[in-house]
Amino acid sequence: MLIFIDTANLDEIREANAQGLVDGVTTNPSLLAKEKGKPREILANICREVGGPVSAEVVGSKCEEMVEEGRSLAKIAENITVKIPVGVEGMKAVRILSEEGIKTNVTLVFSSPQALLSAKAGATFVSPFIGRLDDAGHVGMDLIREICAIYSNYGFSTKVIVASIRHPLHVVEAAVAGADAATIPYSVLKKLLHHPLTDIGLERFLEDWKRSEGGMTP
Ligand code: E4P
Repeated sequence: MLIFIDTANLDEIREANAQGLVDGVTTNPSLLAKEKGKPREILANICREVGGPVSAEVVGSKCEEMVEEGRSLAKIAENITVKIPVGVEGMKAVRILSEEGIKTNVTLVFSSPQALLSAKAGATFVSPFIGRLDDAGHVGMDLIREICAIYSNYGFSTKVIVASIRHPLHVVEAAVAGADAATIPYSVLKKLLHHPLTDIGLERFLEDWKRSEGGMTP
């Protein structure tokens, strides 16, 4: 499973990249608004750090606006993927951008029909938001299982990015479901490596070593 980092913060991206954990980056208007600087410059800097796809979202609501913004975002760097909100206008924009060879990521997906139509429109990626579904009293991961089954049934090449991840179990379940990618906030990424038994085990090894002949050798 590919690991994308869900942030527009360069320090977080560099830190995760240094651990070899960044196959791609997803941003959205809220994440970019949290950072200092102009969004296009932030995106250009991210694209310089990361070789994989970097999602940048359009803010227009009409197809023409989305297409124009998408073309402009795609000029920032070769690895920009244009994030388009699902909907009638969004599908039209995805079709046009895909035909022009611009990669797209259909976002704000909360149902299987939305994911099915996104694939038919030619989306490169689709981003179902599981945490927000959980928040609304649904089982977000059921949606991932359904979408993976639908895409597999019909051989769609659209890749599923599990988005709106809140905790490590979401990542595990995404991998078990066979999702292509999970986009993970840096706070959750850090938790994935942590286990209390690892800490206890390491502490014990080091104490034992200090008491041994090897540890006492100057
Ligand atoms: C990813 O593409 C989305 O921007 C992100 O995962 C949304 O997460 P949130 O529900 O925590 O805002």
